Amino acid sequence: MPLVNLFDYKDLARRKLPQPIFDFIAGGAEDEVTLAANRAAFQRIVLRPRVLVDVAKIDLSTTVLGQTVSMPILLAPVALQRLANPDGELASARAAASAGTIFTLSTMASRTIEEVAAASDGAKWFQLYVHPDRDVTKHLVQRAEAAGYGAICVTADVPFLGRRERDLRNRLEFPPDVTHVNYLGEVESGPPSTLTTGLASGSALSDSADRFIDPSLSWSDIDWLRSVTSLPLLVKGILTGEDAGLAVEHGAAGVIVSNHGGRQLDGAPATIDVLPEIVEAVHGRAEVLLDGGVRRGTDVLKALALGANAVLVGRAYIWGLAAGGEKGVAQVLAMLRNELELAMALCGCRSIGEIDGGAVRR
Ligand code: FNR
Repeated sequence: MPLVNLFDYKDLARRKLPQPIFDFIAGGAEDEVTLAANRAAFQRIVLRPRVLVDVAKIDLSTTVLGQTVSMPILLAPVALQRLANPDGELASARAAASAGTIFTLSTMASRTIEEVAAASDGAKWFQLYVHPDRDVTKHLVQRAEAAGYGAICVTADVPFLGRRERDLRNRLEFPPDVTHVNYLGEVESGPPSTLTTGLASGSALSDSADRFIDPSLSWSDIDWLRSVTSLPLLVKGILTGEDAGLAVEHGAAGVIVSNHGGRQLDGAPATIDVLPEIVEAVHGRAEVLLDGGVRRGTDVLKALALGANAVLVGRAYIWGLAAGGEKGVAQVLAMLRNELELAMALCGCRSIGEIDGGAVRR
């Protein structure tokens, strides 16, 4: 069967992965209302195509935080990618570099900051989960900076892990050789054994004993982070104009409109629905990125029309990774690129700069 779109890759990944692992990647929090909303909201938006524009040549390149990328589609941080393929993050980082875009490495990755840097000289960002021990946090940031990562992306929407009921039902356990290797040598207890919550007690809050993510994180820590690194900071997990404004006031170079792919607060809005509020609040003072439910080139076009500088994809490239390693990720990225190029041509947009609010019906 030819793989025609990203959903075909998802189906192939479902056949290849053990069911609990597939569920861990595909699933969301509680009733998965927000997970579904991310897709549904994109599908409700209607495009306004302009015709008789010379679209013989389309340029998808743009810049994100000053970095030139071949297309406005970046790779979001996704933990433990060796669950999908033995090469894990190395394969994804290489595919991103070949595609001319940015790979974001998760703190909770199954390959280290340094291994990924050695495997790929493409542009990379480091996603940071702030550890309760600030020395551990600071050292992670310094390692990323030393290894050549170009930005720190602080995830703000995980004071506690969301309640992912598929994982509870599956009694999810990860293979012992797939661990959060970035913590080796950083914490005496070794890496956390699991990313899931509530497995022992049923309560994310009471499982906080061996926590690796500090629930007391607040805006003053963003100031502290800025003092320990010269890298630009992005705050990931913004869903309101108020928080977008605060992120800018605390010196963020960018915000990522994200509900963590529907994995945290069920009932949180679809990201594309709140994008206009955030673009308005930021008012050009920082870059605005978005993730959540991006599966089509037209989704990217819609996000850019509503004011995003670029989007990130999470599960989409993980399905490619599970289906075919580095090649699978490359194919998924090429597919999204081709879809965006066609969508732009059919809308009469020749460059990223030409995509504006006129491309969507409000
Ligand atoms: C994630 N995401 C995530 N985010 C983050 O900041 N740090 C992390 O370690 C992870 N890990 C992670 C694992 C898995 C399996 C998934 C699916 C997601 C969230 C991710 O960066 C992004 O916000 C969402 O994946 C975007 O939604 P889509 O593209 O998956 O719909």
